[in-house]
Amino acid sequence: MKRFKLFLYNLFFSPYRYSRKSTNWRNAFGLMPFERLLYRTMTFVGGNSIEGDYLEFGTYQGRSLASAHHIAQLYSLKKMRFYAFDSFEGLPEIQGVDREGFCNFKKGDFSCSQEDFLKILKKRGVDLNKVQLIPGWFDQVLNDETKRSLPIKKAAVIWIDCDLYESTVPVLDFITSYIQDGTIIIFDDWFAFRGNPNRGEQLAFREWLTRNPQITASEFRKFDWSANSFILHHD
Ligand SMILES: C[S@@+](CC[C@H](N)C(=O)[O-])C[C@H]1O[C@@H](n2cnc3c(N)ncnc32)[C@H](O)[C@@H]1O
Repeated sequence: MKRFKLFLYNLFFSPYRYSRKSTNWRNAFGLMPFERLLYRTMTFVGGNSIEGDYLEFGTYQGRSLASAHHIAQLYSLKKMRFYAFDSFEGLPEIQGVDREGFCNFKKGDFSCSQEDFLKILKKRGVDLNKVQLIPGWFDQVLNDETKRSLPIKKAAVIWIDCDLYESTVPVLDFITSYIQDGTIIIFDDWFAFRGNPNRGEQLAFREWLTRNPQITASEFRKFDWSANSFILHHD
């Protein structure tokens, strides 16, 4: 029933999804893997009474954030707010371990201005009162000052979609204090860099867990060819 309601919602309130220009056209009558994952995530969050917000790091044109917003409404997660962290200038200079061997990312990829991002969200039927943008490079803005300026208490869902190891490290350090037992963390690029565990998001996550022994992770679901997700536990 909820799936049917989402289908109707998208059909009538989210015209982009069915426009001929949209790469999603072929999926108009089915859910994409990331949407199925969001369904399961919001079911898990609702079913386990996990309170908290949705934090996305790497938002580009808002595709995953808009879907998370719509699906959260279906699951009556009315108090959930949506935080969009991005440079709004695309990827940074590729450096360090991200430059080693195979890498199909380059500086400036996925650039979308704040104005365009908000326009797209509005067109997709997102309630902008529930959304807050935090613009800037992660290694510069993800700090205590930003934390103090945000009303976030705990995270229910964290979506990490910033492709690179160098971008993921400051993200993980920033979210540590928002973790609770049951926070779902999603890595969109888990199998980037040919799935090498010593690169990208996999390496950053492993190092973060080592730095934070109070936090453990159990695998939740893999989806699409590139992504993976975990349930986090906090002592
Ligand atoms: C693949 S896109 C995100 C796609 C998006 N989640 C969606 O639903 O389509 C990657 C995003 O990460 C952002 N990003 C990557 N590294 C960053 C960094 N160090 N600081 C800020 N933004 C970064 C880019 O600007 C870009 O918007």
